[in-house]
Amino acid sequence: MKITDFAAFKKAGRRISMITAYDYSMARIAASSSVDCVLVGDSAAMVMHGHESTIAATPELMAAHTAAVARGAKTKFIVADMPFLSLRSGLPAAMSCAGELLRAGADAVKLEGVDGHEAVIKALVHADIPVVGHVGLTPQSICRLGSYRVQGRGAAQAKKILAQAVRLQKLGCFAIVAECVPSALARRMSALLSIPVIGIGSGPHTDGQVLVLHDVLGLYPDFSPKFAKRYCDGAGLFARALSAFDGDVKRGRFPAREHECA
Ligand code: KIV
Repeated sequence: MKITDFAAFKKAGRRISMITAYDYSMARIAASSSVDCVLVGDSAAMVMHGHESTIAATPELMAAHTAAVARGAKTKFIVADMPFLSLRSGLPAAMSCAGELLRAGADAVKLEGVDGHEAVIKALVHADIPVVGHVGLTPQSICRLGSYRVQGRGAAQAKKILAQAVRLQKLGCFAIVAECVPSALARRMSALLSIPVIGIGSGPHTDGQVLVLHDVLGLYPDFSPKFAKRYCDGAGLFARALSAFDGDVKRGRFPAREHECA
């Protein structure tokens, strides 16, 4: 998939699939699948580093994960998240962060929210850096929000989120992620915008869907958001494989003759 496909797919009514990836091995697996594009999400801070929120992600961390993913998923379109505060630390800092992500191998950057980010978004687009917007639940705002919950339930809130999406399109974003907004709002947004709306926890009526890799592969046995679909029991599969290895070592079944180097 290339950047021009986003508009083309929207026009053709062809849905877009996006999956997160954070490291080389998983990026290779994503690359060998049919998913359209890969997001190096700042959820890396949580799923790869065990932090409570995405606040811990830094430009350096995002650039390192992006570089690893880019090495593993050479054929996929890669979007990388601009981390917490990277937009609020002034235009030069924002430009430098986006530049780092592109130099690390991203094809585009994603940023949360729009209020107060207009100048940065304009500058990024002006500098030929493709930008994906992100509305609804913006996890980088967790300290203000207090919890991860659906956004845009009331009419006023819904109107505000819709207006934000329209502004992002006007500012030059080529796609928008709508996270945890009511299905009806996501449907209106998708119908209203000429750029694709990629939903997560926002119902089926969007132009595409994005999920966190660990949720799809069942790598988190204890936690799975209601909106995510687990396509395999990765944690169970891996634990059983490791226990089989352990058993073989303890019973003297591994290594066998075919594993001997000489
Ligand atoms: O960081 C992330 O994984 C994301 C997705 C949840 C859209 O932004």
